[in-house]
Amino acid sequence: MKIVVIQGPNLNMLGIREQQVYGPMKLEQIHAQMKEFATQNGIEVEFFQSNLEGEIVDKVQECYGEAQGIIINAAAYTHTSIAIRDAISAVNIPTIEVHISNIHRREEFRKTNMIAPVCSSSIVGFGPFGYHLAMVGMLQIMNEIKAAQEAQAQAQQATQVQ
Ligand code: DQA
Repeated sequence: MKIVVIQGPNLNMLGIREQQVYGPMKLEQIHAQMKEFATQNGIEVEFFQSNLEGEIVDKVQECYGEAQGIIINAAAYTHTSIAIRDAISAVNIPTIEVHISNIHRREEFRKTNMIAPVCSSSIVGFGPFGYHLAMVGMLQIMNEIKAAQEAQAQAQQATQVQ
């Protein structure tokens, strides 16, 4: 199983930017922890960060046929990008969005969320730990899909025997 982690604009500045909101952890440290969890659970993980909307759209599209799950923090584009939303909807891959801060208790403009309606779930306000929760959540989603596929295969076999 392969998961692609997509990080939006200014997340490359974690550890420097607004530490009172986002904490002191750098993006590389967050990714190192995710990688460790992925290795322990036999998951392949790829990391991507961009400050450009079109590059994020391209990356989501590249996931089609390549990845079984997407974890995305679209950062400021969360609140504006119909293009990223449409890309997630187009590839139809289970997607979890993460926000380090609790976007619901911040400025009014952060309450608009273009991405959440096309995602399996949202994790907000847990700080960098949210990325770990997203990995655990993605494993759960994968297990549920696998169980449903197995049940379907069994049901098909049963009808063939009859
Ligand atoms: C963020 C929240 C966004 O509103 C903001 O623009 C970010 C980071 C978060 O992780 O809390 O850049 O997505």
